[in-house]
Amino acid sequence: MTEVIKPDSSGLARAAAILDDGGLVGMPTETVYGLAGDAANDRAVAAIYQAKGRPSFNPLIVHVADVDQISPLGHLSDSAKRLADAFWPGPLTLVLPLRDDAPVSALVTAGLPTLAVRVPGHPVSRALLQTFGRGVAAPSANPSGRVSPVSAAHVIAGLDGRIDAVLDGGECSVGLESTIVGFADASPMILREGGVPAEALAEVLGRPLAVREEAGAITAPGQMASHYAPVGRVRINVTQPEPEETFVGFGPVECDLNLSENADLAEAAANLFRHFHQLDAMGATRIAVAPVPDEGLGRAINDRLRRAAAPR
Ligand code: TXA
Ligand code: MG
Repeated sequence: MTEVIKPDSSGLARAAAILDDGGLVGMPTETVYGLAGDAANDRAVAAIYQAKGRPSFNPLIVHVADVDQISPLGHLSDSAKRLADAFWPGPLTLVLPLRDDAPVSALVTAGLPTLAVRVPGHPVSRALLQTFGRGVAAPSANPSGRVSPVSAAHVIAGLDGRIDAVLDGGECSVGLESTIVGFADASPMILREGGVPAEALAEVLGRPLAVREEAGAITAPGQMASHYAPVGRVRINVTQPEPEETFVGFGPVECDLNLSENADLAEAAANLFRHFHQLDAMGATRIAVAPVPDEGLGRAINDRLRRAAAPR
């Protein structure tokens, strides 16, 4: 049985002790819950892949308490530093050149010469990382092929008995994963759209960032679709749902579940995965989703919806 831990000081100490022992802890962040293990411990990192049932070693994000803990891990270029200053702590992940002597298991990077790092903003993850004092590797805390968890109950529903504990930090406020920015060829590029809108990154850097093509288009549908999909079949950009479809609306429309009645994109992002989990709980087999504007957080929402709707 997986222990549900309250995030008070004794709970945080308990969670940090589990991490110290090489155990796994579900950790609330403002984006989604992460499955945290000591990033320097091979056994812990291997256990993360095993608990998720991840078929291959897909590289993981290392989470730290503050930007000072980044320098032993990777090199921050000038533009990386500007983004870090502007958005950390927060829903942004930077992919940096890995330092040779970085105290990180080779399983974390899956052998790549780069390392993804993030300083999360959720008070409970910050407190846990401060108590633990080192970096934790954390993918989203869902079994491979399922929707990312945005509550402790979602983590338990997916991973009960397969991880040591989950810290209950309530519902995630952003509700979808961090924006990932890489710095290959020194020019920043969006590798995954997420909680920090592309427009906000461009404002800080003074120019728009390229978006890696796979982030917008489905190149490997079978593989990517399952990552963000509810069990039922999904149609997107639907204004007229079929009678047998469960309709997920946006704005003031008649529907079964609404992403945001006020057409607020931040609210819609926070509701997206919660609604996916709810659709699974309802046993919805055919799902239609209303159009969502493709701007700001809407770009990350549409990215997840396209993946959910891709052929499987
Ligand atoms: O919001 C988030 O980012 C959440 C929370 C827990 O922080 N984490 C998350 O992790 O979404 P995960 O493992 O589900 O997704 C991380 C993505 C993967 O697609 C992985 O391929 C990519 O980050 N990634 C990790 N390291 C990378 C690297 N060195 N280069 C390129 N992509 C990398
Ligand atoms: Mg994930």
